[in-house]
Amino acid sequence: MNYYIFIIALLASSCRAVPAIVVPGEIWPDDQGRHVNAHGGGILYHDNTYYWFGEHKGERSSSAWVGVTCYSSHDLVSWTSEGVALFVVADTTSDIREGCVLERPKVIYNQKTGKFVMYFHLELFRRGYSAARVGVAVSDRVTGPYTFLYSYRPCAGYWPVNMTEEQRNSTITPGDFPEWWTDEWRKATNDGMFTRRDFEGGQMSRDMTLYVDDDGKAYHIYSSEENLTLHLAELSDDYLSHTGKYIRIAPGGHNEAPAIFKKDGRYFMITSGCTGWAPNAARLHVADNIWGPWTEYPNPCVGEEANLTFRSQGTYILPVVGKKNAFIFMADRWTPRRPIDARYIWLPILFENGLPVLKWYDRWDINEVFR
Ligand code: DGJ
Repeated sequence: MNYYIFIIALLASSCRAVPAIVVPGEIWPDDQGRHVNAHGGGILYHDNTYYWFGEHKGERSSSAWVGVTCYSSHDLVSWTSEGVALFVVADTTSDIREGCVLERPKVIYNQKTGKFVMYFHLELFRRGYSAARVGVAVSDRVTGPYTFLYSYRPCAGYWPVNMTEEQRNSTITPGDFPEWWTDEWRKATNDGMFTRRDFEGGQMSRDMTLYVDDDGKAYHIYSSEENLTLHLAELSDDYLSHTGKYIRIAPGGHNEAPAIFKKDGRYFMITSGCTGWAPNAARLHVADNIWGPWTEYPNPCVGEEANLTFRSQGTYILPVVGKKNAFIFMADRWTPRRPIDARYIWLPILFENGLPVLKWYDRWDINEVFR
């Protein structure tokens, strides 16, 4: 080999990024050799570090007996346990008492207040999934400890921006329908029958995510109306509450597990259907404006087990810092018989004809797929 070509090849190979290998579905050991215990999670990038927050799950129980865990990383592959960011408590009068259901925690940073704000889906102790509340906690330090502030059903006393006068004034109620899923029931649901029912007490809020837009405005996106319709609601400037401005998305579409990202000014949201812990086909929703209209597209997954989202359910979409248009779809492969063993399915979001596509990889290198 010519001497100069040899030197250039040597320099090029020494510049190649260190591999960052993701093996979807395998045990993912933390710095102490224990499988990461941060399910239904999300990631915050702060001060050159990624922080992964998620549900601590037990050997037998999916309920919250510990709280929200936190892990840190610089390369998205090696994760250091930062302990418990938000503890559930022994106090039996607390909304977050041990044994409650605390799911899908997400943390965002407020530039103006310098506080870290955590939202999560909260179900009160021994009340099944009937409370359908959002919980809010805050901390001065990214890893916590977070202080629990309150839980509630959002947007009490406010109408969705995209609900018509006629829909707001309709007198049809769920009690008018002895049976669900009939054509009449579907129409009434799509027309906001459950939004009206919950107008005073606040809207139901289950599976959820948070999103901070480029202008610093933050949004809470959640499964509402008995999981039948998604809501997207604006948060206050300090991110600690809802302003009351919100829209309904995909009325009657039965969506859970919302995860959102923005590429070239367009918003993409990947959701799942509602089948408990069992996987189902993902859905895609696209909008040019966060306030809609949102258009639904078919399942972005392709290939074997695409109809089951590769046996997983989405939880968050992570923009890889420092790379253009590099997004990771993070999902959980639930194992309700042994919740602690649920595996993480992380896949790169590819694009075809401007739309996201997900395909299975047995293993992949973050620095290779996203150059
Ligand atoms: C599906 C949700 O996405 C999960 O977070 C959890 O609430 C399960 N349902 C419970 O069945």
